[in-house]
Amino acid sequence: MQVSDSSSRILAGLLEARTGQQLTMSRRWRIETALAQILRARGIATLDELITILVMGKEPGLSQQVVEALLNNETYFFRDRSPFDQLQTQVLPRLAELRGDRKRLRIWSAGCSTGQEAYSLAMMFADDPIKWRGWTIDILGTDVSENVVRRAREGSYTQFEVQRGLGVTQMIRWFDEKPDGWFAHETLRRAVRFQVHNILEAVPQPGEGQFDIVLCRNVLLYLNADKKRLAFDRIASALAPDGLFMMGAGETVIGQTERFRADRDWRGLYRLAGSDFVERRAARG
Ligand SMILES: C[S@@+](CC[C@H](N)C(=O)[O-])C[C@H]1O[C@@H](n2cnc3c(N)ncnc32)[C@H](O)[C@@H]1O
Repeated sequence: MQVSDSSSRILAGLLEARTGQQLTMSRRWRIETALAQILRARGIATLDELITILVMGKEPGLSQQVVEALLNNETYFFRDRSPFDQLQTQVLPRLAELRGDRKRLRIWSAGCSTGQEAYSLAMMFADDPIKWRGWTIDILGTDVSENVVRRAREGSYTQFEVQRGLGVTQMIRWFDEKPDGWFAHETLRRAVRFQVHNILEAVPQPGEGQFDIVLCRNVLLYLNADKKRLAFDRIASALAPDGLFMMGAGETVIGQTERFRADRDWRGLYRLAGSDFVERRAARG
């Protein structure tokens, strides 16, 4: 099935207006596959027919469904592994010292897809119960897609999904196998909250304090320069003055925003520009 230029322009415009994501020419081949299920479910014969229904605007839920189908939700547990190892062995112990007086940490996984990133964080804390006893650890996962947020809340994964990134021991320890998939244990599900939220809009849960760590990994890749800057501004305003920001393995803030600078010691982690945390840490020796 061919996607006409005008149809792909309309879809690209809709996706960008709702999420900031650009449907670049190199990603347009995905349109057909991404929307095939919507066509089948609604008995629509062609993409152009779908676009006509969309443009008429008589089915409000349809545009959200189309946008969600066009988003790339690729994710897996402990994605790229080494950033999580660094968090567990270096960053969290340091934050535990810094926040020892109030014993509370807030972490935001922005663009969390089906929840694997947020549950990976929850597993890191749950694997070390003695160290974190008495602490309140808030982990918030957000995504612009209602569909993935619903799945994240369910904490249910296929055999394929649960195996991606988890060893057998972790799978068995933190997930229950049922006839319809693998389900995250109550302990993990209680540790993480999920919310529909667009990274380009005001910070989620503003009344609950700033975040000590924000992860926004593999989300901003297809945003144009202005939208990226806006997303960085939103993240910067959500972060505690000595908080840390993490992007995906192939991403950087360098040349994209003035709000962050690379941490001196921790690879792939960024701090708010102008924060004096490094100097204070150096002074402590
Ligand atoms: C490729 S996944 C990455 C998931 C996870 N962060 C990881 O690295 O494994 C990108 C996610 O970002 C979400 N997303 C895209 N644009 C967004 C926006 N404007 N606000 C919030 N989430 C967005 C998508 O729905 C998708 O679930």
